[in-house]
Amino acid sequence: MSKLSYLDKFHIWRRKLRWNRQYKKGRWDYLRNDVEAPRYSKILEFIKQHSKKQASILDLGSGEGVLRMRLENEAIGYFLGIDFSKFSIETANNYKFKNADFQVADLHYYKPPQEFDVIVFNEAFYYINDAVRAKVLNRILGKLKKDGILITSIFKEGSGCWKYFDIPELEQLDFSKVASEKGTAYWKLGVYRKL
Ligand SMILES: C[S@@+](CC[C@H](N)C(=O)[O-])C[C@H]1O[C@@H](n2cnc3c(N)ncnc32)[C@H](O)[C@@H]1O
Repeated sequence: MSKLSYLDKFHIWRRKLRWNRQYKKGRWDYLRNDVEAPRYSKILEFIKQHSKKQASILDLGSGEGVLRMRLENEAIGYFLGIDFSKFSIETANNYKFKNADFQVADLHYYKPPQEFDVIVFNEAFYYINDAVRAKVLNRILGKLKKDGILITSIFKEGSGCWKYFDIPELEQLDFSKVASEKGTAYWKLGVYRKL
């Protein structure tokens, strides 16, 4: 099956409302804390090691722009953050980051407006309904420049998510496991080159 049912669409809509409520209450403020720092650091490291300088970066499921916050201005050619939570995008836009835009869109339907050097799914891929994960990834890869890189971060084991990145269009460049500061949580991160 590679289509969303009416029930799937209803659940996605309900989840979006929940994310907005949670962002409003500050439930995700902790993402800015040091506890989560190791996974952002690993993403920055992957960008530095495997991408060109001043890359154009697409951050899918960007939330309030924490990844952009951790990037140095000089490292970025252009940054676009996408999230379906209107409230998180308002917060990200209020920071007025240099060379950055944040827009509201649902990843299930989103088609990037241009090609990018770097595309990031930072704790967002597993929220895509599994009926359309392959389709969404394929659409997104269509907007990754040849030789561009895709970075994925997934909490703990990622329940069936990693198989989507094991495809002929992608070559894995690195794969890493990082633990939170106190070691109570961990994430796995992969970086892939588009062939
Ligand atoms: C765990 S948060 C991660 C936020 C950010 N990537 C970070 O790590 O700082 C997951 C984000 O994915 C967003 N999200 C979930 N499902 C989405 C969808 N279908 N379309 C767009 N964004 C989505 C949520 O609103 C939320 O901001």
